[in-house]
Amino acid sequence: MEKVLEVRNLSYRYNQSDKASLTDVSFHVEKGEFFSIIGPSSAGKTTLCNALVGLIPHFFVGAKTGQVLVQGMDVDEADTGHLSTAVGLVFQNPFNQLSYTTETVAEELAYGLGNRGVSREEMLVKIADVAQKVHIEALLEKNSLDLSGGQVQRVAFGSTYILDPQILILDECTAQLDPMGSDELMQVVKKLNAQGISVIMVDHSMERVAEYADRVMIMNEGRVCGIGTPREIFTQENADRYQIELPDFVKLSYALKEKGYWKGEIALTESEALKMVRELEFYDC
Ligand SMILES: Nc1ncnc2c1ncn2[C@@H]1O[C@H](COP(=O)(O)OP(=O)(O)OP(=O)(O)O)[C@@H](O)[C@H]1O
Ligand SMILES: [Mg+2]
Repeated sequence: MEKVLEVRNLSYRYNQSDKASLTDVSFHVEKGEFFSIIGPSSAGKTTLCNALVGLIPHFFVGAKTGQVLVQGMDVDEADTGHLSTAVGLVFQNPFNQLSYTTETVAEELAYGLGNRGVSREEMLVKIADVAQKVHIEALLEKNSLDLSGGQVQRVAFGSTYILDPQILILDECTAQLDPMGSDELMQVVKKLNAQGISVIMVDHSMERVAEYADRVMIMNEGRVCGIGTPREIFTQENADRYQIELPDFVKLSYALKEKGYWKGEIALTESEALKMVRELEFYDC
């Protein structure tokens, strides 16, 4: 398998802080993989995302050791324009992502393309395409300052998507959306992933992680505590010791096992849970 991203022994401390936010983080992501990152607040997930796209060290000031390689490029040496064709980040706080220097949402979407020298005709085609995919057609002529949190999040996602990155990094990118809006956005992400785009997603929804992830990485206090498939991560003994919730279907499976109704595999996803319910032992009584 082709590695599209590799992190080697990465440690980082922000200048304003006397404590490291990342300590000896190592992992890799393969082409086309859906890689989820979970962990409690302050675990270092956002800091890691900043390092994966080169905001650390090019924007934030601090002490960094170790390496981040994106498609073989060391982010320390890569120029940010070149890096942005390989990797794109949807920020945890979408209000920090938009430039707010444009009159309209359409211009906001075009912002990154302008820096790349894309023609006006091509820009218009891309804007219309992205707007339709993330359901913001009605917002294109609005000023970004007049949008709701959920709308800003969609525009922020669109402004990353429009740059066609090969690796898409999503830092809790549905936090401002209602359940339907989240599902819609996840369908877009799923489609991109099916087309071969590698996805790295920081997520607090364990049900979604269990459903989507090929592999999951747990972080706590700036360190990697485990990497594995959702089944390996969520069914290991004492999985909750890193302050992560278990997916609801996993909790249900354990409860049914404890009562003696279920002796099979732990269900991780809705479809596995439905299969389990159909086979439950108390139906025989
Ligand atoms: N700009 C910054 N300057 C100084 N310290 C920071 C900065 N950003 C984050 N930190 C510190 O780094 C640590 C990790 O924070 P980070 O935001 O990466 O965690 P997180 O896992 O994304 O948390 P959350 O789930 O709440 O988003 C925290 O202790 C935080 O206080
Ligand atoms: Mg964060």
